[in-house]
Amino acid sequence: MLSYNATKIIDWSSEYLNYVSAVKNKGKSVNRWFPILEGFSNSFVESIIREQTSTELVCLDPFSGGGTTPLVAQELGAKCYSFEVSPFMSQVCRAKLRKDYKADEFLYVVGLIRSLLDRDIKHDFKIGLKTISKNQRLKKWLYHKTALESLLNIRKAIDVVGLEFPKYIDILYVALGSILLQFSNVFRDGKALRYKDNWAKKTYKQKDIYNTFLDKCINSVFSDINAIVTSRYNNLDFFYNGDCRQLIDIIEDGSLDLVITSPPYLNSRDYTDSHMIELWVLGHVLNYEDVRLLRRKTMRSHVQVKWGDLPLPNSKILENRLSQVLKYEEKFWNKNIPSMITGYFCDLEDILRKLKTKIKKDGKLYINVANSSYFGVVIETDRIIEEIASNLGYTINEIRLARRIKTSSQQYEEVKWLRETVIVLQNK
Ligand SMILES: C[S@@+](CC[C@H](N)C(=O)[O-])C[C@H]1O[C@@H](n2cnc3c(N)ncnc32)[C@H](O)[C@@H]1O
Repeated sequence: MLSYNATKIIDWSSEYLNYVSAVKNKGKSVNRWFPILEGFSNSFVESIIREQTSTELVCLDPFSGGGTTPLVAQELGAKCYSFEVSPFMSQVCRAKLRKDYKADEFLYVVGLIRSLLDRDIKHDFKIGLKTISKNQRLKKWLYHKTALESLLNIRKAIDVVGLEFPKYIDILYVALGSILLQFSNVFRDGKALRYKDNWAKKTYKQKDIYNTFLDKCINSVFSDINAIVTSRYNNLDFFYNGDCRQLIDIIEDGSLDLVITSPPYLNSRDYTDSHMIELWVLGHVLNYEDVRLLRRKTMRSHVQVKWGDLPLPNSKILENRLSQVLKYEEKFWNKNIPSMITGYFCDLEDILRKLKTKIKKDGKLYINVANSSYFGVVIETDRIIEEIASNLGYTINEIRLARRIKTSSQQYEEVKWLRETVIVLQNK
């Protein structure tokens, strides 16, 4: 079946088990401003950077998420380009990478926000999301009136103060973003937002919402700002909000030593949906056309967009798995499943092809992926990437098993575990 020499998968789970999940980052300085669940940990990036023989590194993370790679690279004195398509996650990256905050000034800015809130500032924002708050056509809505009004008043206060102190806008928006779910009627459950038990009766007071925001600013953001240390590079200078499939072109040919990344998994998850609340309430999207355009810029790991007929990437394994999936056509819960699978690997092939010219000879890529399963057919993402990369002329140094992920209860009958791995490629 394999059209190339498959690399043996080496068990690295004792080292990586806690590294490939961002849970460990949750309470860490700076990361706690907006904890990312779908990222890898600081230790993962640190261990890879420390593995390299050179200390003069130019790195890239094309799928930056909450900015773990550029942040750790910055702390270790490495230059790092990073790209992120989501405007909210980009705000998280920018807030974390920025180093010119002044603790006293931040306290003063927070004081100004407090006094605007005390003086009953009122917002004038209109949120276009249909389910945002109660109306006659809805059975369920995301916010009760007081909660939404209070959160938007905070946003207004940030905007007013931000006119004089623009460098704090991102960090304050991120602090506000971090409390949006707490005062909503939903919680994040994997890729979906679900209604909290008893949500209709659970209401929140304006005073508590304002205090939670101000506490977040003082108790975590302020103390972390105080601890930011100087470093050789400011990787904010090399961060870009946009689609990495295009942004890669801005990197100079033959300039990269190291790529550390975790692309979205092929799990039909659309990050635009997972972060819907942050995107709408913070004004990153104003209408449904903005959402549609954002989805089109994301990697094809979800079924929300019709991608149409696509050319098949250069992989026999993929060809085989797709033909198996197609046998279950009558069970498809969405007809875009096959084009999502093809589109996903087309995107990865395209990115790997473009990176080939950007990476120095002997430069390395560490790609953290997980396999997926559709209708009992396992899509071995690591093996397919291995084959595509090998066909593009990369050397496959290693495939490291990071952990085995238990499948969801619906899938458990057919497939019990899915592999999460780190593929190590080299540009020979
Ligand atoms: C698995 S997460 C990366 C998490 C990251 N390693 C961290 O530690 O926070 C994948 C990220 O890729 C982003 N993304 C999806 N499509 C993209 C694209 N075309 N260009 C750039 N980023 C994209 C998603 O918004 C998401 O934040």
